[in-house]
Amino acid sequence: MSKTQQLAQLFRHAIEQGQLRAGDRMPSLRQLCQDHAVSLTTAQRAYAELERQGLLQALPRSGFRVCPPATRAAPAETAAPQTLRMEHLTTALPMPWGCPFINPALINTTPMNRALGRALQDYRDALSSTPLEGFDGLRRELGLHYLSQGIALAGDELLITCGGMEALTLAMRAAVSASGSQSMVVVTPAFPAALEQLRHLGIAILPAALSEQGSLDLAAVEETLHEQRPAGIVLMANFQHPTGLVMPEAQKRALVALAEQYRVCIIEDDTYRELYFGKQGASPLKAFDRSGTVLHCSSFSKSLAPGYRVGWIAAGRLSDTVRGLKLCSSLGTPLPSQMALARLLATGQHGDMLTRLRASLRQRRDAMVQQIMESFPAGSRLLRAEGGYFQWVVLPEGLDCAALLPLAIEQGIHYAPATLFYPHPVAANALRLNFSFFDPLHQREGVALLGALLRQAME
Ligand SMILES: Cc1ncc(COP(=O)(O)O)c(C=O)c1O
Repeated sequence: MSKTQQLAQLFRHAIEQGQLRAGDRMPSLRQLCQDHAVSLTTAQRAYAELERQGLLQALPRSGFRVCPPATRAAPAETAAPQTLRMEHLTTALPMPWGCPFINPALINTTPMNRALGRALQDYRDALSSTPLEGFDGLRRELGLHYLSQGIALAGDELLITCGGMEALTLAMRAAVSASGSQSMVVVTPAFPAALEQLRHLGIAILPAALSEQGSLDLAAVEETLHEQRPAGIVLMANFQHPTGLVMPEAQKRALVALAEQYRVCIIEDDTYRELYFGKQGASPLKAFDRSGTVLHCSSFSKSLAPGYRVGWIAAGRLSDTVRGLKLCSSLGTPLPSQMALARLLATGQHGDMLTRLRASLRQRRDAMVQQIMESFPAGSRLLRAEGGYFQWVVLPEGLDCAALLPLAIEQGIHYAPATLFYPHPVAANALRLNFSFFDPLHQREGVALLGALLRQAME
């Protein structure tokens, strides 16, 4: 939570508890800055927020006064954040649209399995060593891929990990250890396992809200960097999980420059990089990084090889720290799956696999979106996913998707409610649907059924 939000929350609480009463004069902005060691901008923003909520009224010449209760905006219904549990990962229901994994049925496993067979033949020779940095052949292929995107990595920057999750964890731990700070800016809504990992590491989460167009309030981010000195910024600039949005290119550039200015690293999760719906992918933040500020994390789990557990990190100026942490995290990444992936990339077979996968995802997305528009309650908003396999739907205010989930499960439908994607209580009127598991031929009625449930809940 930013300083502004903390301050606004403090005074909201004081007013609601009757510590500050209707008509009371609020401390001057200057006083507020002194008492709470914040900048004038923060103090102004906090009062503006309270004014917006109908709690304060600006006085004609100067200052603020507490409003009478009748003028106050009712607080939005909020629900507590949820911690990640196994049932959130289920694929057991007929319509497992809440599952975070890609539908393995969409991936042609034959070339990968063949590559694994060949790799196992070679494996006898490689039995004795599992290099800490990863299999050299795979690192070389990945290095070439970065080059094709105009990114020249430093020689020792790339490290293969046990999936993208290990890459993210190493990056978070490296950022904390290098900076000594125990907080991290996280763009929300966010990947639930990243939030969970930060909680386990005891790192305070400072949320930065993503707009429905995929951009950030950079002034607010700068204020947080200035006042809280966090260890890093965790975000997905491309095909964001759970919204599928892409950050505008000018913002990407500006964010990297901001992080450089404050010497704060960026942990870029680019796990959905290959799953774009347009003609080509989107530039990662890493492409704008000239000083090793961006720790770029990604994985093969969503595109070529779910279950092989191979990911990677290009860790910029924290490469040494990340290597040290990898040593005591998993010592190395299993070799056969790396060798198989290296072979698949070197022979170029992955290109066709990805082209087909993108086409099936786009087709499923279009079909699901059409059905949602026909059956969800009026006033629902669908964010325009540019890639990945999730559709984020914002429902009319007051609908509580978390409370409604057991009813949907009774009908064989699973979805992920908004409460999973935030570190703080939120209005639960949004949900994530995994359209890779949506079968356009047989499951349109399932979406209609979910729409009917949501509409009934509004009555
Ligand atoms: C946004 C995001 N980042 C990272 C990961 C982790 O990837 P992996 O399965 O390779 O560990 C996932 C997996 O769900 C994800 O959705």
